[in-house]
Formats: sequence, structure tokens, C-alpha cells
Amino acid sequence: QEDLFKNVVSHAKEYGFIFPSSEIYDGLSAVYDYAQNGAELKKNIREYWWKSMVQMHENIVGIDSAIFMHPTTWKASGHVDAFNDPLIDNKDSKKRYRADVLIEDYAEKINQKAQKEIEKARTRFGEAFNEQEFITTNTRVVEYLAKKKEILERMARSLETENLADVKALIEELEIADPETGSKNWTDVRQFNLMFGTKLGAEAATAMDLYLRPETAQGIFVNFLNVQKTGRMKIPFGIAQTGKAFRNEIVARQFIFRMREFEQMEMQFFVRPGEEMQYYEYWKETRLKWHLSLGLGRENYRFHDHEKLAHYANAASDIEFNFPFGFKELEGIHSRTDFDLKAHEQHSGKKLQYFDTEENRNYTPYVVETSVGLDRMFLAVFSNSLKEETLEDGSVRTVLKLPSVLAPTKAAVLPLVKKDGLPDVARAIIEDLKWDFNVAYDEKDAVGRRYRRQDALGTPFCITVDHQTLEDQTVTIRHRDTMAQDRVKISDLRGIINEEVSI
Ligand code: GAP
Repeated sequence: QEDLFKNVVSHAKEYGFIFPSSEIYDGLSAVYDYAQNGAELKKNIREYWWKSMVQMHENIVGIDSAIFMHPTTWKASGHVDAFNDPLIDNKDSKKRYRADVLIEDYAEKINQKAQKEIEKARTRFGEAFNEQEFITTNTRVVEYLAKKKEILERMARSLETENLADVKALIEELEIADPETGSKNWTDVRQFNLMFGTKLGAEAATAMDLYLRPETAQGIFVNFLNVQKTGRMKIPFGIAQTGKAFRNEIVARQFIFRMREFEQMEMQFFVRPGEEMQYYEYWKETRLKWHLSLGLGRENYRFHDHEKLAHYANAASDIEFNFPFGFKELEGIHSRTDFDLKAHEQHSGKKLQYFDTEENRNYTPYVVETSVGLDRMFLAVFSNSLKEETLEDGSVRTVLKLPSVLAPTKAAVLPLVKKDGLPDVARAIIEDLKWDFNVAYDEKDAVGRRYRRQDALGTPFCITVDHQTLEDQTVTIRHRDTMAQDRVKISDLRGIINEEVSI
């Protein structure tokens, strides 16, 4: 799994998907640039989301609000007071950690110990081994797992009550219990606000303190009435948007999984108070279906219902994906109550209510939110698609089996040789197809090597122009996943490609 992850990062770099930012200056920690192919893949994921959420729903509209917002927005939303992570420094190693992540990592170690015991027993008992029975009867395993549960429960309680001394005590206790790491020299745990501050205005005395938005959602809330009125929207309805968000993550890690600058695709669905749970369930199911439609495998998704809720929510669930480093949050579905609209009403003094003509009354709508990280979607799709296949002749091919609808380039057109007029025919095919698809031209190297290059880029089709083409206006079309080749008419190409790459 670790190897797979390394391959993902190096493949993304080598094939022009993702570069470390400012690389000539040795990069900037946890900041990445999307390269020529990455930008296309990312754009296609964004469009796939937008189409299914906005175009396909009569009652959902899309906006594009500013990254800068009035500073009171973040007071109202709770981000100034409550958008904190607990932070702890190790004085010996001079390393900084998110205290909650550190504790979870320890809990995971305990889990791994239990798994080791289970595997040992499985080898010892062979066929007769009953895992469930072993887990419930073996005292060591029972103890390990009970300890893990207890640690996480204590952590959740201490974080909730902001009892930071207890969080530190928990870390120390875990280290003493783990003789391999031994006791280390920790600072106290402190709360650290994740918002990036900046200033608007040139003169220091009058400049206004601003934050870069840590979520796109608030741009939707403050525009709720504008959109509802101008769009004559009737409840239930949704407002969607995609855009950059910024968080000064203490520990940004795992490539584009946790970054300081990232992109969200969010939708706020406004409903009648009391009906939110029914829509919460609806959106959980609908969003999972959207993920499954990409064909990355049902077994790679699971729900994680939250017990500990954010300050604004009355129910929350994550869709987790099986990333190369395990199951982690990909999307959040939150029932946010009327928290945000009420808070903005209070802080702005403006009424943010809806007049329901059916019920003949005013109320503050409740909100169900779906929020997915575009970069995380990229990582999910990219890592799941990267395969090494051993072919019949024993050679290995690297192929990026991206869902065709998301592939950066839909077809590569390849003249078999660089002479006899074949390049001209290839160019003419491109001139025709480029109105509908991203198509590429490649004439360098033997055709087999060109196929492999397109496999590694995830291009679903290779179209080869050869001497027969000159006679009968046919070409070969090679399918990325099966490597099967068909002879088809040039005039049929558009239809064949379209069938595979359209949504
Ligand atoms: N408006 C709700 C909200 O922002 P969140 O769970 O904090 O909720 C939603 O974030 C999604 O944004 C996450 O599920 C994740 O996919 C993505 N996300 C959050 N922080 C991120 C980061 N530092 N880097 C990349 N993606 C991130």
C-alpha cells in the first residue's frame, strides 16, 4: 500500500498531473500545482459534479461567490471562536502535531497489535480458526481493543470540553504504555485557529482584517435571500458552488489529501424545519450513488456517522473512501439546522427568512449540506485508477484506468509512420474531432511505445492511421482497458468515442 502511494505521487509528477508548487525554490510544504493533465482531470471532475447537482436538478442553482467576505461572516459562522485544532509540539524532535491525530495514531497502533495477534492465531489454527470467537474470547485482543475504544472516547470527551490538559495527559499515558517510543518531552496542548488572515487596504491604520474563506458554504448562506428572490426559488431548493478554500492546517500531509489551499464542491439544501432528517437521508444516499456511478468499486466506500458533532450540526456523516493509506473522509453530509442563517440574521440585523406560500408563514429554513473536496476526489479517482498489469508476454504495462468521462484526453491520433501523407490524415481527423473532445497528436517513437504513453495518461482511445486508411478511409481504434483493436470508418469515430465518454 505504501508502495502504491509512492507510485501515485511519482506518476502524477512524471506524467504532468501534479507538481510540487514553486519547485524551483524547493517547493512549498503541502502546496501543489495541477499540471497540464491534472488541470483537465480536475476540471472534468468539477463538471461531472456540477452537471449532476445543478443541471440535473431543477431546484438547485449554482453561484460563484468571492473568496474575501466581510469579516463578521466568520464571527457569525463560529469560525473565529470555534474553528480550532489542538496543537502540541515535541520539544526533543521539534516536531508539531495535531493532538487529536496523534492520539488516533496511537489508537491505530493498538489496533494493529490486536490484528497481529489475530493473524498469528489464524496461522496457528488454520481452517478451524473462527475470528469472531477469537476476538471475543482472547484476553489480550479483548484488552487491546477495549483500550483503543477507551482512548478514543476519552479524547472525544476532552476535546469537546476543551480540557486540553487531559489531552496532553492522554498522550503521555499512551507513550509510557508504549515502551518502543518511550516518554517524550511535550509542550502543553494549545488551540490553534485554522483561518488565514490577510489585510484589505493599503494604509496600516485603516486596513481591514480579513480571512481567506475556510469553506465555500458561507458565501451561499449570505446570498440565500438574493438567490431565493431573484430565482423565485421555492423550498425545498439548493444552492451549489465550487471554489477554493483555505485552512492553515497544522500538519498537512498525504499529498493532496490535506492541503492548506484546496477546492470544495458544496451544496446547501434549504428545507422546511422538521423535514431535515428526511432530506439528510436522501442526500446521503444520492451522494453515495454519485460516487458509485464512477465505477471505482462499491467496496471502496463506507459511511461514517458522526457521534461528535460540529457546533452547527444535528446530524453528520462522512462518505469515506479507501485511499492508498486506508479509509478516510472524502465527503461530508451535514444537517446544519438553522444555525447559519439565524447567526447571520443576528449579526447583520437583516431578516433571512422565507415566506412559505403553502403554509402561509415565515420561517428560517433548515439546511442539509453536501460538501466534497475536489482534490480528494482527484486523489480517489487517480489512485484507484493506477494499475500495473502483467501482460501475456510477461511485460508490465502501467495504465491509468480513469473513468472515460473524466479522462484528460479522450483520444490520441497516431500516424503509423511520419511519411506517405499519414500525418496529414491524422491532423485532419484531429481538426474534425477537436470540436467535441480533447484529442492529442503523437508521431514520436514506435506505435507500441505511443500506446503505452497514452495508457499511462489514461487516454481511453488510440486511433492509428496506416496505409490502408489512404485506400478505404478506415483506421484502427484501440481500447485502453482491453487493448483490443477494431477497424472502423473515420466517419464513425465521433459516435464511438461519444458513446464511451459522455455522461
Ligand atoms: N462546509 C462544510 C465543510 O467545510 P469539512 O468536513 O470541514 O466541511 C468538507 O470539509 C470537505 O472538504 C472534506 O470532506 C474534504 O473532502 C475537504 N477538505 C477539508 N479540508 C481539506 C484540506 N485541508 N485539504 C483538502 N481537502 C479538504
